[in-house]
Amino acid sequence: MSSVTLTDIVKRFEAFTAVHKTSLDIPDGAFVTLLGPSGCGKTTTLRMVAGLLDPTEGEILIKGRKVNDVPIHKRNLGLVFQNYALFPHKTIAENVAFGLKYRGVAKEDARKRVQEALDLVQLPGVGDRYPKQLSGGQQQRIALARAIVIEPDVLLLDEPLSALDANLREDMRVELKRIQERIGVTTIFVTHDQSEALAMSDQIVVMSNGRVEQVGPPEQVYNTPASEFVANFLGASNILPARHVGSDGDAVLLDADTFGRVAVPAAKAPNLASEGPAKLVIRAEKLQLAPSGTPVNGELAIDATVETVDYQGQAVRYFVRAGHTQLQAINMIDERPFSEGAQVSLRLRPRDCAALPAS
Ligand SMILES: Nc1ncnc2c1ncn2[C@@H]1O[C@H](COP(=O)(O)OP(=O)(O)OP(=O)(O)O)[C@@H](O)[C@H]1O
Ligand SMILES: [Mg+2]
Repeated sequence: MSSVTLTDIVKRFEAFTAVHKTSLDIPDGAFVTLLGPSGCGKTTTLRMVAGLLDPTEGEILIKGRKVNDVPIHKRNLGLVFQNYALFPHKTIAENVAFGLKYRGVAKEDARKRVQEALDLVQLPGVGDRYPKQLSGGQQQRIALARAIVIEPDVLLLDEPLSALDANLREDMRVELKRIQERIGVTTIFVTHDQSEALAMSDQIVVMSNGRVEQVGPPEQVYNTPASEFVANFLGASNILPARHVGSDGDAVLLDADTFGRVAVPAAKAPNLASEGPAKLVIRAEKLQLAPSGTPVNGELAIDATVETVDYQGQAVRYFVRAGHTQLQAINMIDERPFSEGAQVSLRLRPRDCAALPAS
């Protein structure tokens, strides 16, 4: 059963269309992420589900009930925003209890539920403290406790981790996912951070300019991007002009710039229709540098020159030139990285490639 359904939703702000006709089905219990660059319409979409903004067109259903005309406080939602400030003059327990009080839950029952929520976010002992006595990460856990204590039908999270520093953010995403799985609440999570989206989501909705570019599980949007935008937004890709020249068993045959004939698995070229112009997609981490002259086994190999070396700790990003084509490769470092100017052999397994229509 779907927990949240958007049907042909449009949001216009005067002449500007922030969200173009969009339909989405969010299954019960799923963790779904709206992912895309700044300004693509993530928050606008979430605010329409929350009831903070009215859609210009279209319908929103929550648990099968049309909610377009249902006010926010009657939608039974849990909300956490980037800087969802806690009430500074209320204790943590009072902050968490806020939604329960509002719903008329009896005092004793409320006390028990607040304690359960604090246990769940692993801050059982802070009920008597005030928000300013907690760290940013702890406050964000309290904001989460306050959102889930009411047992919402849907949890809406708008960049809840982005105010935290990098290490804490990684810990918190594991924590948040654990809590979501534990209580099984349908969750819509907004982020522009692709690694967060890949790590946490059951389904990722990739958005660009107010439109949905692709919906799918993390491995699918990562390995089989539906558009050039998705291929570049999730990780780094090389996209080469090519011609779709036929098929061979479970592969489609592409004649690509630089690499020549490449047999791409048909499953990774789902949108390629007829033969003709196409694009070959090569993930930067699938392009391996080897010393010139290393024996080839089953891969494609072309000669290239290293132009730039961008050292990243456990990996290195190379920009290399093969003929007139510049390519990027991200390789794990086992020994010493190649130096600028080095002559190398670029290795690529055709089954690691994907293909897109020309445009
Ligand atoms: N109230 C408003 N009036 C006019 N334009 C708005 C309004 N709210 C949002 N917009 C515009 O709609 C577009 C989408 O905004 P939105 O806040 O949904 O983006 P976002 O994907 O959440 O971006 P970010 O990652 O920066 O938070 C932007 O171009 C924004 O300027
Ligand atoms: Mg936003």
